[in-house]
Amino acid sequence: MNLNENVLVTGGAGYIGSHTCKALAGYGYHPVVIDNLSTGHRELVKWGPFIEGDIADGTLVKKTMEKYNISSVIHFAANAYVGESMENPRKYFKNNVIHSLHFLENLTSEKYTVIFSSSCATYGLPEKLPLDETHPQKPINPYGESKLFIEKTLEWYHRIHGLNYIALRYFNAAGADPDGETGEWHDPETHLIPNVLKAARQQTPVEINGNDFPTNDGTAIRDYIHVSDLAEAHVLALEKARKNDNGRAYNLGSGKGYSIMEIIKAAEKISGENIKFVYKSRRPGDPPELVASADRAKADLGWQPKFSDIDTIMGTAWQWMEKN
Ligand SMILES: NC(=O)c1ccc[n+]([C@@H]2O[C@H](COP(=O)([O-])OP(=O)(O)OC[C@H]3O[C@@H](n4cnc5c(N)ncnc54)[C@H](O)[C@@H]3O)[C@@H](O)[C@H]2O)c1
Repeated sequence: MNLNENVLVTGGAGYIGSHTCKALAGYGYHPVVIDNLSTGHRELVKWGPFIEGDIADGTLVKKTMEKYNISSVIHFAANAYVGESMENPRKYFKNNVIHSLHFLENLTSEKYTVIFSSSCATYGLPEKLPLDETHPQKPINPYGESKLFIEKTLEWYHRIHGLNYIALRYFNAAGADPDGETGEWHDPETHLIPNVLKAARQQTPVEINGNDFPTNDGTAIRDYIHVSDLAEAHVLALEKARKNDNGRAYNLGSGKGYSIMEIIKAAEKISGENIKFVYKSRRPGDPPELVASADRAKADLGWQPKFSDIDTIMGTAWQWMEKN
């Protein structure tokens, strides 16, 4: 632990970023957030200074890094909707690739450590399950492609300039801070769990994309990982990367898959409501099942998810929704 050290968190006003700021503060670090509030919220920045601005603004980033004596960065800032990236790929290549490249201009040498938010979307269609880090990366949407590009950039900066980096490939982030201090706040919300809970509360039907997948109940299976467990993994990765032990990627998932119908059942249990649903057709390129092997993160980072059972995920998400 490095008490009093500042860590720059891009996108720290967002969902996973704000939980990670809380985790950093819990470990004695000072998170310094830079965020343009395009999808984030000022109210979620509670654990350190906030600089409103874009990661592509080189002058602002440089000034912030000097002012706070930054050598460690956790880079979340990005657009993160797979569906939107299929409609507007330019937005994804511009923000997730070009803006990230501008941001990384300041961070190419061995003086710096970068922990990068990557995604299971970099794998594309699974050739085998569970997915481990050796699985081929063949994205099937611009979002996944944009994340893969930055993973590769970091790898080259690592090899050529000595930059310390770790890429974390998350599966489906879910749940909310168990203390209720931050939670999921997306507009529009595209993630299943908040939408299912909203359907429970408002008694509106939730849409299920596909009921003809080769799974037990015909609906798609995903791996949900509690956002506070994700947050802790970032701190562990940062500490590992700073010890010169880096230059690789880790999957972050629970290793267990739940179908959409199972999520609906869990949401009915926590809310005490019946949830209505309507079946829609499958979305193009939606795989039947995505489940992580996170053995590498557990072995190397000493990471052990604590909140990622489905009842805790659902309970914390429900508590956040009730409160807000
Ligand atoms: N939510 C998931 O399940 C999931 C899964 C895999 C990967 N990820 C990745 O994790 C990261 C965080 O995701 P999230 O769900 O917290 O999303 P989010 O939208 O809540 O957070 C992203 C934050 O980045 C900020 N931002 C975006 N572009 C910016 C820019 N150019 N300059 C400054 N700030 C900018 C937004 O305002 C927002 O606060 C993203 O990189 C996403 O791709 C998320």
